[in-house]
Parts: sequence; structure tokens; C-alpha cells
Amino acid sequence: MKIFTSSCELQKYTLELKRSGKTIGFVPTMGFLHDGHMSLIDIARQKSDVVVVSIFVNPTQFAPNEDFDRYPRDFDGDVAKCAEHGADVIYAPEAAEMYRADASTWVEETVLSQPLCGISRPTFYRGVTTVVAKLFLLVQPDFAVFGLKDAQQCFVIQRMVRDLNFPIEIIPAPLVRDADGLALSSRNRYLSADERARALSIHRALLAAKARIMADKSSIKAAAAEAAAAITAAGGRVDYVDVLDCETMKYPEADAKKIILAAAAFFGTTRLIDNEIFEI
Ligand code: PAF
Repeated sequence: MKIFTSSCELQKYTLELKRSGKTIGFVPTMGFLHDGHMSLIDIARQKSDVVVVSIFVNPTQFAPNEDFDRYPRDFDGDVAKCAEHGADVIYAPEAAEMYRADASTWVEETVLSQPLCGISRPTFYRGVTTVVAKLFLLVQPDFAVFGLKDAQQCFVIQRMVRDLNFPIEIIPAPLVRDADGLALSSRNRYLSADERARALSIHRALLAAKARIMADKSSIKAAAAEAAAAITAAGGRVDYVDVLDCETMKYPEADAKKIILAAAAFFGTTRLIDNEIFEI
């Protein structure tokens, strides 16, 4: 497995791969890899000749009051997991390699990124789209795999790829949960045992709300309010519980086909997100 820290060297390498006719599958990550990431690498492995994984805790998607400094890191562990799952290349740049000190260009999606996490983290998606666009130009992938735990992120990236004509297929991959239902996230490691147990209320509340909406489409608002109340009762501080049309990321109209029921809540100081996507 090759490990690159230099953007120029990585790009030179991937351009050569493309010239020789190889397909490249890409999994962008911020490291501290778990089974959710491994499922993305497995998908990329099945679809492409060469699998590239990026490991980069991207400073531009963190607000000053967020957890950039303490975001969990385990480079050696990540390298071992990538090797185990057959990745061919790791790209792990320093921040100064990714962003020049006087960088003044952003990539911004302005509609799908507005609700949900876009409200409480107003600069988050701009940081994500900018770094992912840069990564796409460096890695030159044919396919890029994004987990649906961050479903809004996946929709925003699909829109960016469509709008900017990136010749890349975005592959949304199923959300992966622990046996008890908690959505896998690198941030789960911040949770105390008690917070983790209480955090299971998020998934339970979403499942109950989903069942209610499936039984009665007109109960969307009541179901979301009930889910928020259940998470609050379990000791969570709810950021949002909302139901949106996956296509528009707006309140579902009568003709909405696929909807996302999404939640974000703090347990202690840890902000967790989760969602259910289903057809109505
Ligand atoms: O989902 C993540 O881990 C990050 O937002 C991503 C896509 C790697 C961009 O930094």
C-alpha cells in the first residue's frame, strides 16, 4: 500500500493510473476509521481497480467552537485497517499541504446544504464541498463512496458533482449501526457509558416516528415533535428532528417519493446525527 502526504505526488500518481486505463474508487475520510468506513472501502474495492482512501481532519469544516483539536486520530490503526480491507493508496496530507496560507477560493452548494446541519453549523458544508472538490481533483476517482449516516452531506456532494460536471459517480452507502442500534461515528468514542446508553434513544425515536409517518402521512410534524420529545426525555439536547424530501431538502409535498427523517442531538458535549430514509 502506498502512502502519500504530498498533493503533487499523489496527483501525478493518479493521473498515471488513469492514463494506463485503471479505474479509481475513492473513500474520503477524517480517519479514526470504524466498520462504517470499512464498508465504504469494501464497496470501492468491488467497483474499481485501485482504491484510494484519504485521511484528513479538515479544519475548514469545523467552527472555532467545535472539536477540531480533540477530534480522535489514530493514523497507524487506520493504515492497518485500510491494508486489511485491500486499499491501495492512502492520502494523508497536513493542513498546510491541503490549504495554502492565502487560499481564497471556496466551493459552495447553496440549497440542499441549508436545512438540518446547515442551520446549526453554517460554515460546515462550505468546508466539506471545498475539501471534497479538491480531493476529487487530486485523486481523479471514477467512483467515490459516501456513507448515508451523513445523508445530507451525500446529497450535497451529489449536487456539487452534477452542477460542476465532475466525471465521478457518487455511490451512497448504507448507514452502519452497532448491534444495539447506535449509528457508527468516530465521535461515539467521546461518549461515557451512560451517555451512550441514553443516545440509543435517537434511533428508537426515529424508528417510532418512521412507523407513525408510514401509517399516516399527515402525521409528519407530530411524529417529528414526538421523536424530539423522546430524545429530550432520555437526556439529549435536541438540535433538530426534521422530515424533508430527499430531492429538494424541503418539507415534503404530496408527491414526495423518498423522505429523510433526520435528527441531531447532544449527549453531554457530543453531537450525534442519525437518520432514516424511506419511501412514502
Ligand atoms: O464525512 C467526512 O468524514 C468528511 O466530511 C469528509 C467527506 C471526509 C470531508 O472532510
